Amino acid sequence: MNEQFLADVASGLNAEPKYLLSKYFYDKRGDELFMQIMSLPEYYLTRAEMEIFSSQTQNIIDLLGVRKDIPFDLIELGAGDGRKTKMLLAALLKEGYDIEYVPVDISANVLEHLTNVLGRELPGLKIRSQASDYFKTLRKLKQRERSKIVLYLGSNLGNLTDAQARKFIYELGANLHKGDKFLLGVDQIKSADIVLPAYDDSQGVTRDFNLNLLHRINEELNGNFDLSQFRHIAEYREEEGVAKSFLQSLKVQEVRIRSLKQSFHFSAGEKIQMEISRKYNQAIIDNILDKTDFEVLGVLKDRQEYFADYVIERR
Ligand code: AVJ
Repeated sequence: MNEQFLADVASGLNAEPKYLLSKYFYDKRGDELFMQIMSLPEYYLTRAEMEIFSSQTQNIIDLLGVRKDIPFDLIELGAGDGRKTKMLLAALLKEGYDIEYVPVDISANVLEHLTNVLGRELPGLKIRSQASDYFKTLRKLKQRERSKIVLYLGSNLGNLTDAQARKFIYELGANLHKGDKFLLGVDQIKSADIVLPAYDDSQGVTRDFNLNLLHRINEELNGNFDLSQFRHIAEYREEEGVAKSFLQSLKVQEVRIRSLKQSFHFSAGEKIQMEISRKYNQAIIDNILDKTDFEVLGVLKDRQEYFADYVIERR
Protein backbone atom coordinates (compact mmCIF):
# COMPACT_ATOMS: atom_id res chain seq x y z
CA MET A 1 0.00 0.00 0.00
CA ASN A 2 1.05 3.56 -0.71
CA GLU A 3 1.95 5.06 2.70
CA GLN A 4 2.06 8.64 1.42
CA PHE A 5 -1.43 8.29 -0.08
CA LEU A 6 -2.70 6.92 3.23
CA ALA A 7 -1.12 9.77 5.20
CA ASP A 8 -2.41 12.45 2.81
CA VAL A 9 -5.97 11.06 2.92
CA ALA A 10 -5.80 11.05 6.73
CA SER A 11 -4.62 14.69 6.85
CA GLY A 12 -7.22 15.83 4.34
CA LEU A 13 -10.25 14.12 5.89
CA ASN A 14 -9.28 15.14 9.42
CA ALA A 15 -8.92 18.77 8.35
CA GLU A 16 -11.63 21.39 8.72
CA PRO A 17 -12.84 21.96 6.01
CA LYS A 18 -12.09 18.55 4.50
CA TYR A 19 -9.93 18.26 1.40
CA LEU A 20 -8.24 15.65 -0.81
CA LEU A 21 -5.22 16.21 -3.07
CA SER A 22 -5.90 16.30 -6.81
CA LYS A 23 -2.54 14.69 -7.60
CA TYR A 24 -4.20 11.41 -6.55
CA PHE A 25 -6.78 11.66 -9.38
CA TYR A 26 -4.40 10.00 -11.80
CA ASP A 27 -4.63 6.25 -11.41
CA LYS A 28 -5.35 4.15 -14.53
CA ARG A 29 -9.04 5.11 -14.58
CA GLY A 30 -8.19 8.73 -13.72
CA ASP A 31 -5.75 8.93 -16.66
CA GLU A 32 -8.53 7.68 -18.96
CA LEU A 33 -11.06 10.16 -17.60
CA PHE A 34 -8.61 13.04 -17.98
CA MET A 35 -8.04 12.04 -21.63
CA GLN A 36 -11.82 12.23 -22.07
CA ILE A 37 -11.94 15.62 -20.35
CA MET A 38 -9.35 16.98 -22.79
CA SER A 39 -11.67 16.28 -25.70
CA LEU A 40 -14.86 17.61 -24.08
CA PRO A 41 -16.48 20.54 -25.93
CA GLU A 42 -16.46 22.58 -22.67
CA TYR A 43 -12.79 21.97 -21.87
CA TYR A 44 -11.33 24.81 -23.97
CA LEU A 45 -7.83 24.65 -22.40
CA THR A 46 -6.39 21.82 -24.50
CA ARG A 47 -7.78 23.19 -27.78
CA ALA A 48 -6.52 26.71 -27.07
CA GLU A 49 -2.99 25.55 -26.27
CA MET A 50 -3.07 23.17 -29.24
CA GLU A 51 -3.84 26.16 -31.46
CA ILE A 52 -0.75 27.97 -30.13
CA PHE A 53 1.46 24.95 -30.76
CA SER A 54 0.12 24.29 -34.25
CA SER A 55 -0.10 27.84 -35.59
CA GLN A 56 2.92 29.42 -33.85
CA THR A 57 5.44 26.58 -33.86
CA GLN A 58 8.13 28.69 -35.52
CA ASN A 59 7.58 31.58 -33.10
CA ILE A 60 8.12 29.21 -30.19
CA ILE A 61 11.33 27.87 -31.74
CA ASP A 62 12.61 31.41 -32.43
CA LEU A 63 11.88 32.59 -28.89
CA LEU A 64 13.60 29.53 -27.42
CA GLY A 65 16.70 30.61 -29.36
CA VAL A 66 17.97 27.06 -29.88
CA ARG A 67 20.95 26.36 -32.14
CA LYS A 68 21.53 23.48 -34.50
CA ASP A 69 25.14 23.00 -33.44
CA ILE A 70 24.27 22.61 -29.74
CA PRO A 71 22.47 19.40 -28.70
CA PHE A 72 19.78 19.79 -26.06
CA ASP A 73 17.30 17.92 -23.89
CA LEU A 74 13.62 18.75 -24.20
CA ILE A 75 12.15 17.73 -20.86
CA GLU A 76 8.39 17.61 -20.42
CA LEU A 77 6.99 17.56 -16.89
CA GLY A 78 3.64 15.73 -16.71
CA ALA A 79 3.82 14.67 -20.32
CA GLY A 80 0.29 13.26 -20.71
CA ASP A 81 -0.60 12.33 -24.27
CA GLY A 82 2.07 14.63 -25.73
CA ARG A 83 -0.12 15.84 -28.61
CA LYS A 84 0.99 19.47 -28.34
CA THR A 85 4.65 18.64 -27.88
CA LYS A 86 4.53 16.34 -30.90
CA MET A 87 4.12 19.34 -33.18
CA LEU A 88 7.08 21.14 -31.67
CA LEU A 89 9.18 17.97 -31.84
CA ALA A 90 8.23 17.35 -35.48
CA ALA A 91 9.28 20.87 -36.48
CA LEU A 92 12.57 20.66 -34.55
CA LEU A 93 13.43 17.30 -36.12
CA LYS A 94 12.56 18.48 -39.61
CA GLU A 95 14.79 21.52 -39.22
CA GLY A 96 17.68 19.32 -38.16
CA TYR A 97 18.06 20.16 -34.46
CA ASP A 98 19.88 17.64 -32.26
CA ILE A 99 17.37 16.85 -29.50
CA GLU A 100 16.57 14.21 -26.97
CA TYR A 101 13.00 14.16 -25.68
CA VAL A 102 12.62 13.34 -21.97
CA PRO A 103 8.96 12.97 -20.95
CA VAL A 104 8.58 12.78 -17.17
CA ASP A 105 5.39 11.50 -15.58
CA ILE A 106 4.51 9.61 -12.41
CA SER A 107 2.29 7.34 -14.49
CA ALA A 108 4.33 4.60 -16.22
CA ASN A 109 1.10 3.83 -18.07
CA VAL A 110 0.93 7.22 -19.71
CA LEU A 111 4.64 7.13 -20.64
CA GLU A 112 4.40 3.74 -22.30
CA HIS A 113 1.51 4.92 -24.45
CA LEU A 114 3.34 8.14 -25.34
CA THR A 115 6.57 6.34 -26.26
CA ASN A 116 4.62 3.99 -28.54
CA VAL A 117 2.80 6.81 -30.32
CA LEU A 118 5.94 8.93 -30.79
CA GLY A 119 8.02 5.95 -31.90
CA ARG A 120 5.45 5.36 -34.64
CA GLU A 121 4.80 8.96 -35.65
CA LEU A 122 8.26 10.48 -35.22
CA PRO A 123 10.74 7.74 -36.08
CA GLY A 124 14.24 9.03 -35.51
CA LEU A 125 13.33 10.93 -32.34
CA LYS A 126 15.52 10.01 -29.37
CA ILE A 127 13.28 9.40 -26.35
CA ARG A 128 14.30 8.59 -22.81
CA SER A 129 11.16 8.49 -20.70
CA GLN A 130 11.34 8.84 -16.91
CA ALA A 131 8.62 7.40 -14.69
CA SER A 132 9.65 9.41 -11.69
CA ASP A 133 9.33 12.46 -9.52
CA TYR A 134 9.92 15.72 -11.48
CA PHE A 135 12.70 17.08 -9.32
CA LYS A 136 14.47 13.76 -8.86
CA THR A 137 14.70 13.55 -12.64
CA LEU A 138 15.83 17.16 -13.04
CA ARG A 139 18.57 16.71 -10.42
CA LYS A 140 19.85 13.71 -12.31
CA LEU A 141 19.72 15.50 -15.65
CA LYS A 142 21.54 18.55 -14.30
CA GLN A 143 24.71 16.47 -14.13
CA ARG A 144 24.49 15.83 -17.90
CA GLU A 145 25.65 19.38 -18.67
CA ARG A 146 23.48 19.58 -21.80
CA SER A 147 21.32 22.58 -22.63
CA LYS A 148 17.77 22.14 -21.51
CA ILE A 149 14.28 23.22 -22.36
CA VAL A 150 11.72 22.31 -19.71
CA LEU A 151 8.06 22.16 -20.76
CA TYR A 152 5.27 22.46 -18.23
CA LEU A 153 2.09 22.76 -20.26
CA GLY A 154 -1.67 22.45 -19.94
CA SER A 155 -1.94 24.79 -16.92
CA ASN A 156 -0.70 22.00 -14.68
CA LEU A 157 0.81 24.75 -12.52
CA GLY A 158 -2.75 25.79 -11.69
CA ASN A 159 -3.23 22.95 -9.22
CA LEU A 160 -0.82 24.80 -6.93
CA THR A 161 -1.46 27.85 -4.80
CA ASP A 162 0.66 30.87 -5.80
CA ALA A 163 2.96 30.27 -2.82
CA GLN A 164 3.44 26.63 -3.87
CA ALA A 165 3.96 27.72 -7.49
CA ARG A 166 6.72 30.12 -6.42
CA LYS A 167 8.43 27.32 -4.52
CA PHE A 168 8.07 25.03 -7.53
CA ILE A 169 9.68 27.61 -9.85
CA TYR A 170 12.47 28.24 -7.34
CA GLU A 171 13.24 24.53 -7.16
CA LEU A 172 13.13 24.27 -10.95
CA GLY A 173 15.68 27.09 -11.18
CA ALA A 174 17.97 25.30 -8.75
CA ASN A 175 18.02 22.31 -11.11
CA LEU A 176 18.80 24.24 -14.31
CA HIS A 177 21.86 26.00 -15.66
CA LYS A 178 22.08 29.62 -16.77
CA GLY A 179 20.66 29.98 -20.27
CA ASP A 180 18.31 26.98 -20.01
CA LYS A 181 14.73 27.64 -21.08
CA PHE A 182 11.32 27.03 -19.54
CA LEU A 183 8.09 26.86 -21.56
CA LEU A 184 5.13 27.38 -19.25
CA GLY A 185 1.52 26.99 -20.43
CA VAL A 186 -1.15 28.66 -18.27
CA ASP A 187 -4.90 29.22 -18.53
CA GLN A 188 -5.96 32.88 -18.54
CA ILE A 189 -8.45 34.58 -16.22
CA LYS A 190 -11.71 34.94 -18.08
CA SER A 191 -15.43 35.07 -17.36
CA ALA A 192 -17.26 32.42 -15.37
CA ASP A 193 -19.58 31.52 -18.25
CA ILE A 194 -16.56 30.04 -20.06
CA VAL A 195 -14.55 28.66 -17.13
CA LEU A 196 -17.31 27.02 -15.07
CA PRO A 197 -18.62 24.62 -17.75
CA ALA A 198 -15.03 23.40 -18.28
CA TYR A 199 -15.15 22.09 -14.70
CA ASP A 200 -18.80 21.00 -14.72
CA ASP A 201 -19.40 19.45 -18.13
CA SER A 202 -22.78 18.31 -19.38
CA GLN A 203 -21.72 14.67 -19.79
CA GLY A 204 -20.57 14.42 -16.16
CA VAL A 205 -17.02 13.31 -17.01
CA THR A 206 -15.52 15.83 -14.57
CA ARG A 207 -17.91 14.58 -11.86
CA ASP A 208 -16.73 11.00 -12.51
CA PHE A 209 -13.10 12.20 -12.50
CA ASN A 210 -13.62 13.60 -8.99
CA LEU A 211 -15.65 10.64 -7.73
CA ASN A 212 -12.95 8.30 -8.99
CA LEU A 213 -10.72 9.45 -6.16
CA LEU A 214 -13.32 8.28 -3.61
CA HIS A 215 -13.45 4.98 -5.52
CA ARG A 216 -9.66 4.79 -5.37
CA ILE A 217 -9.77 5.29 -1.58
CA ASN A 218 -12.32 2.47 -1.35
CA GLU A 219 -10.14 0.13 -3.43
CA GLU A 220 -6.68 0.95 -2.14
CA LEU A 221 -7.35 1.98 1.45
CA ASN A 222 -10.33 -0.22 2.20
CA GLY A 223 -12.85 2.59 2.41
CA ASN A 224 -16.62 2.44 2.11
CA PHE A 225 -17.56 5.73 0.41
CA ASP A 226 -21.00 5.45 -1.20
CA LEU A 227 -20.35 7.36 -4.44
CA SER A 228 -24.07 7.90 -5.02
CA GLN A 229 -24.25 9.98 -1.82
CA PHE A 230 -21.89 12.73 -3.03
CA ARG A 231 -22.46 15.34 -5.71
CA HIS A 232 -19.94 17.33 -7.70
CA ILE A 233 -19.82 21.14 -7.45
CA ALA A 234 -17.63 23.62 -9.36
CA GLU A 235 -17.11 27.22 -8.24
CA TYR A 236 -15.38 30.13 -9.96
CA ARG A 237 -15.44 33.89 -9.63
CA GLU A 238 -13.58 35.96 -12.18
CA GLU A 239 -12.33 38.40 -9.48
CA GLU A 240 -10.58 35.54 -7.71
CA GLY A 241 -9.48 33.65 -10.83
CA VAL A 242 -9.48 30.22 -9.21
CA ALA A 243 -11.78 27.36 -10.24
CA LYS A 244 -12.51 25.02 -7.33
CA SER A 245 -14.20 21.67 -7.31
CA PHE A 246 -15.86 19.91 -4.41
CA LEU A 247 -17.74 16.73 -3.61
CA GLN A 248 -20.68 17.46 -1.35
CA SER A 249 -22.25 14.94 1.01
CA LEU A 250 -25.95 14.54 0.23
CA LYS A 251 -26.81 13.36 3.74
CA VAL A 252 -25.45 12.81 7.26
CA GLN A 253 -23.14 9.83 6.93
CA GLU A 254 -20.13 8.02 8.39
CA VAL A 255 -17.41 6.79 6.07
CA ARG A 256 -15.07 4.11 7.37
CA ILE A 257 -11.52 3.76 6.04
CA ARG A 258 -10.25 0.49 7.40
CA SER A 259 -6.57 1.00 6.51
CA LEU A 260 -6.70 4.09 8.73
CA LYS A 261 -8.78 2.37 11.41
CA GLN A 262 -10.88 5.52 11.41
CA SER A 263 -14.38 6.71 10.53
CA PHE A 264 -15.20 10.17 9.22
CA HIS A 265 -18.40 12.02 9.94
CA PHE A 266 -20.08 14.03 7.18
CA SER A 267 -22.94 16.41 7.87
CA ALA A 268 -25.58 16.94 5.17
CA GLY A 269 -24.18 19.45 2.67
CA GLU A 270 -20.58 19.16 3.95
CA LYS A 271 -18.00 19.55 1.19
CA ILE A 272 -14.63 17.97 0.46
CA GLN A 273 -12.43 20.31 -1.57
CA MET A 274 -10.99 18.21 -4.38
CA GLU A 275 -9.05 20.57 -6.65
CA ILE A 276 -8.06 24.16 -7.33
CA SER A 277 -7.31 25.27 -10.91
CA ARG A 278 -5.71 28.69 -10.83
CA LYS A 279 -6.14 31.02 -13.80
CA TYR A 280 -3.51 33.65 -14.55
CA ASN A 281 -2.76 37.07 -15.98
CA GLN A 282 0.51 38.95 -16.54
CA ALA A 283 0.56 40.45 -13.03
CA ILE A 284 0.14 37.07 -11.34
CA ILE A 285 2.89 35.50 -13.45
CA ASP A 286 5.20 38.48 -12.76
CA ASN A 287 4.48 38.12 -9.06
CA ILE A 288 5.27 34.39 -9.07
CA LEU A 289 8.53 34.94 -11.01
CA ASP A 290 9.56 37.95 -8.90
CA LYS A 291 12.90 37.39 -7.10
CA THR A 292 13.52 34.12 -8.95
CA ASP A 293 16.29 33.48 -11.49
CA PHE A 294 13.81 33.53 -14.37
CA GLU A 295 13.02 36.16 -16.97
CA VAL A 296 10.19 36.14 -19.52
CA LEU A 297 11.45 36.27 -23.12
CA GLY A 298 8.04 36.26 -24.76
CA VAL A 299 4.45 35.10 -24.52
CA LEU A 300 2.25 33.45 -27.12
CA LYS A 301 -1.54 33.36 -27.02
CA ASP A 302 -4.33 31.77 -29.04
CA ARG A 303 -6.61 34.03 -31.09
CA GLN A 304 -9.25 34.20 -28.34
CA GLU A 305 -6.56 34.83 -25.70
CA TYR A 306 -7.91 32.00 -23.57
CA PHE A 307 -4.48 30.51 -22.96
CA ALA A 308 -0.85 31.67 -22.78
CA ASP A 309 2.50 29.98 -23.29
CA TYR A 310 5.41 31.82 -21.67
CA VAL A 311 8.96 31.38 -22.96
CA ILE A 312 11.18 31.95 -19.94
CA GLU A 313 14.95 31.93 -19.49
CA ARG A 314 16.99 30.85 -16.48
CA ARG A 315 19.36 33.74 -15.77
C1 AVJ B 1 -4.51 18.95 -15.63
C2 AVJ B 1 -4.55 20.31 -13.70
C3 AVJ B 1 -4.60 21.32 -15.85
O1 AVJ B 1 -7.03 21.89 -13.62
O2 AVJ B 1 -7.78 22.10 -15.64
C4 AVJ B 1 -9.47 19.03 -15.60
C5 AVJ B 1 -7.20 19.01 -14.37
N1 AVJ B 1 -9.53 18.97 -13.47
N2 AVJ B 1 -10.76 19.01 -15.20
C6 AVJ B 1 -7.18 21.47 -14.76
C7 AVJ B 1 -8.70 19.00 -14.48
C8 AVJ B 1 -10.80 18.96 -13.92
C9 AVJ B 1 -6.57 20.12 -15.14
N3 AVJ B 1 -5.08 20.16 -15.07
